[in-house]
Amino acid sequence: MVVKLMRMRRDGMFRKVMPAVPKFMRAAHMIMPAVPKVMRVVHYGCRNGEAHGLKHVEVPVPAPAKDEVLLKVEAASLNPLDWKLQKMTWGSSFMLQFPHIPGIDVAGEVVEVGARVKEFKAGEKVVSVLSHVWGGGLAEFAVAKENLTVSRPSQVSAAEGAGLPISGLTALRALIEEVDIKLDGSGKQKSILIEGASGGVGHHAVQLAKLGNTHVTATCGTQNIDFVRSLGADEVLPYKTQTLIWSLSGRKYNAVLHCSTGIPQSIANLSTNREVIDLTPVVSTKWTRDVRTFFRKKQLVPKFVSLKKKNLAYLVGLKEGKLKTVIDSKHPLSKAEAAWTKRIDEDGDASGKIIVEP
Ligand SMILES: NC(=O)c1ccc[n+]([C@@H]2O[C@H](COP(=O)([O-])OP(=O)(O)OC[C@H]3O[C@@H](n4cnc5c(N)ncnc54)[C@H](OP(=O)(O)O)[C@@H]3O)[C@@H](O)[C@H]2O)c1
Repeated sequence: MVVKLMRMRRDGMFRKVMPAVPKFMRAAHMIMPAVPKVMRVVHYGCRNGEAHGLKHVEVPVPAPAKDEVLLKVEAASLNPLDWKLQKMTWGSSFMLQFPHIPGIDVAGEVVEVGARVKEFKAGEKVVSVLSHVWGGGLAEFAVAKENLTVSRPSQVSAAEGAGLPISGLTALRALIEEVDIKLDGSGKQKSILIEGASGGVGHHAVQLAKLGNTHVTATCGTQNIDFVRSLGADEVLPYKTQTLIWSLSGRKYNAVLHCSTGIPQSIANLSTNREVIDLTPVVSTKWTRDVRTFFRKKQLVPKFVSLKKKNLAYLVGLKEGKLKTVIDSKHPLSKAEAAWTKRIDEDGDASGKIIVEP
């Protein structure tokens, strides 16, 4: 058998292209669309370019390493992390190599698998989280680690699957680990405040919290009140018109999940010795927080997403409408700038996730 090995450069690394297979051995591959040599991607070559910095180019299709799958991307979602990396407002963005293809949440179809991949084969629909350093989501094809890829059931659309990983995993971790909510509803009833409940993390958090016998008070922009109520929140407050976020029913909160930027105003309403879980901790607000929290026996707890395959599989597999990923808008890859601009707008009028489709 003649084996052709080509090597190509991708993100500064050499990756092996799959060996060519003789015609008589190609039965399994014949039903799969051929993988082209080049693909369309959106990338940026330097920091701070915002939407103007995005360029549409063709690059070689990457080949999967031994522990990776190659996906035909059907949908990618954007997270604040994507534009924060471009603006360098997030700690490890110094590790980025340019040009950088943004996007780490993807859903697609497996078209090739690395030599050691056991769980997937070509033709399977999946959801994956890509490395934030390598990115790769705003592209026609992407390589993903097997250990951060899960099967996607037929009732979960590509857009819903792509909208789930980072925001769903962040909400899940915060609620389970910090608030100790049991998602089967078996725990003691708790009362929590979710700030920024109309966003990617917030809208998943409201739904997950409701699975766990929780009274949810939520904040969002005035335009999103009905949307957040439809997710199951018990009380919804507009953050723009209320500076102190009191529960209308006079409840003290067992915990606050702060799914927005800035210093949480809500710490005053918290029961003593309880926590505000802050998903966007930044150095500049640390001192203010320390002073506020020191005298009040209340804590601000920074929390970061943890990428665990079993948790992603749990979220993707939640059935009977228990968790819905709401799509704010879909944008073709050829118009990725529109999605980027929408995401970069910190005032935000998005509800749910912003999706880019090749
Ligand atoms: N630590 C981690 O590992 C981790 C993981 C994921 C996300 N995050 C961070 O968590 C934050 C939320 O992420 P996301 O994906 O949910 O973002 P998103 O989709 O942009 O949602 C942001 C939310 O914040 C709300 N908001 C805007 N200004 C507000 C204010 N002044 N007070 C209260 N709420 C306000 C928005 O409400 P309206 O649109 O209704 O106005 C929206 O619901 C981001 O800063 C993100 O970087 C951190």
